[in-house]
Amino acid sequence: MPEHNSTTELKTTTDQARLRLSSLENLDDLETWRLEVLGRHGLLTNLMKGIGDLPNEIRKEFGQIANQERANLENAYTNRLLELKNTPNDTSGVDVSLPGRLPVRGALHPITQVRRQILDVFTRLGFTTIEGPEVEADSYNFGKLRIPPDHPARDMWDTFWLDGSHLDEKILLRTHTSPMQIRYMESHPEPPIRIAVPGRCYRYEATDATHEWMLEQVELLVIDQGITLANLKGTLQEWARQMFGADRKIMMRHSYFPFVEPGVEVAIDCFDCDGSDRSCGICRGSGWLELLGAGMVHPEIIAEAGYDPDVYSGFAAGMGVERVAMVLQGVTDIRHYHDNRHPFLSQF
Ligand code: DAH
Repeated sequence: MPEHNSTTELKTTTDQARLRLSSLENLDDLETWRLEVLGRHGLLTNLMKGIGDLPNEIRKEFGQIANQERANLENAYTNRLLELKNTPNDTSGVDVSLPGRLPVRGALHPITQVRRQILDVFTRLGFTTIEGPEVEADSYNFGKLRIPPDHPARDMWDTFWLDGSHLDEKILLRTHTSPMQIRYMESHPEPPIRIAVPGRCYRYEATDATHEWMLEQVELLVIDQGITLANLKGTLQEWARQMFGADRKIMMRHSYFPFVEPGVEVAIDCFDCDGSDRSCGICRGSGWLELLGAGMVHPEIIAEAGYDPDVYSGFAAGMGVERVAMVLQGVTDIRHYHDNRHPFLSQF
């Protein structure tokens, strides 16, 4: 018996639907297809609606074929659904089944971390943090700190001079944060003073593993009645304990800085060896590690600031943040800090 027209039409329609199904590329299109073909008002339902108008002899056959086609299409639908769920739904080459990439998170620069750590300790000890200019006048960087023009201390601090021809005196990138001692005293008619001054400094240096032409310092200045070397030692001892561990000891050795009298160099005991290991990366077997310069503020500087040196005394100290950071972070070349390489910086 030749196939009835309606049966042919049914097969053509379902064949086309099947063809369209295999070309669908994403789940949204698949859902649209499902509603159009298998849905309650879809293609198959519509075809079935006409079944009552068919001649008796083909009605049964038409019904059987239609049910068979529906079952086939539902199967095909389920298979395509599984395929699409398991393959990328995007033809641009993005494999959505790969684990996600975490966004890179920024962090504070290692020097910033250590500067904050240093200042946190001094803040707890009662110091106020202030900042000063990076471009400084000759007189503040040198003269008022008792470093006259021909003083040998200028040799290691000869630095980056700027064009100050429109000013009364020469200007430079400061070589240390000590000028803020003078600036602060000049603008504060009465002690007590207890300040910590962080900031960048610049030096005319041939760079090597322990010298950079730019460095950060933290300067301390305390002026009050009855301040002695014991206050200096106690303050730095407590700072060293909080920075490097409760067992740390400090040692003060005589040194010379024109703006303090006496001047000292301060070292902490090595926390890696007992001083017997000549290959120790921290102290090289000396047992001590130089950290900073300090001293009692020179009475002439106190007098120059307008305070009575018979009533007031004080101490000052200056430390390099990179130096402290190298010790804390086990970094052996200071140049790593500022050459801005992500593999180094991302370790901290
Ligand atoms: N300004 C000195 C330097 O850059 C460090 C220093 C030494 C600061 C002794 C001080 C001090 O306040 O008392 O090397």
